[in-house]
Amino acid sequence: MLGVDVSGKMLERARRETDDSRIAYERADLESFAPPVGVFDLAYSSLAFHYIANLAGLFERVHAALRPGGSLVCSVEHPIMTAPVRQEWLADADDRATWPVNGYHDEGRRVSNWLAEGVVKRHRMIATYLDLLLGAGFRLDRLVEWAPSPEQVAKEPSWAKERERPFFLLIAASRT
Ligand SMILES: C[S@@+](CC[C@H](N)C(=O)[O-])C[C@H]1O[C@@H](n2cnc3c(N)ncnc32)[C@H](O)[C@@H]1O
Repeated sequence: MLGVDVSGKMLERARRETDDSRIAYERADLESFAPPVGVFDLAYSSLAFHYIANLAGLFERVHAALRPGGSLVCSVEHPIMTAPVRQEWLADADDRATWPVNGYHDEGRRVSNWLAEGVVKRHRMIATYLDLLLGAGFRLDRLVEWAPSPEQVAKEPSWAKERERPFFLLIAASRT
């Protein structure tokens, strides 16, 4: 198993939390990282692909790294999250939390201040994620627009706002 991130701190944390000698960790930039070809059954990415400018190239390299029948499972911030030029909640006329959507069709660079200041992301439409996957030779298996369930919100009430719009886009695809 191979774990990749561009951040040394993230890799340190992953090593600490997994403590599994079967996992090799490598510091690499996914913009250019080329994994070995035809050796993996599963490629999994959590909330990293919306930082990547050349996602077409990455999907091609991941496709090549999988064995036939292998899967790619990934999450990205939902395109409704990444679209707005100002990525922050507003209140509507009834004071209901509202996530403004603008710029949806203008794909590209966005700067957000959520969790950390000045983080650069890449906004893409849902259709673009799918086109890039299909273009790289993947078959789409499942698409989920994730938000916390009512049961999860009951346990963690601060998540209630996250049901006002989709939070993450979860994608499962396979190499045929
Ligand atoms: C929101 S964090 C998610 C971290 C972890 N995967 C998780 O789910 O908890 C985004 C991660 O993407 C990594 N990342 C961003 N751009 C990257 C790039 N070009 N190459 C490799 N990793 C990148 C960051 O270093 C960070 O660890």
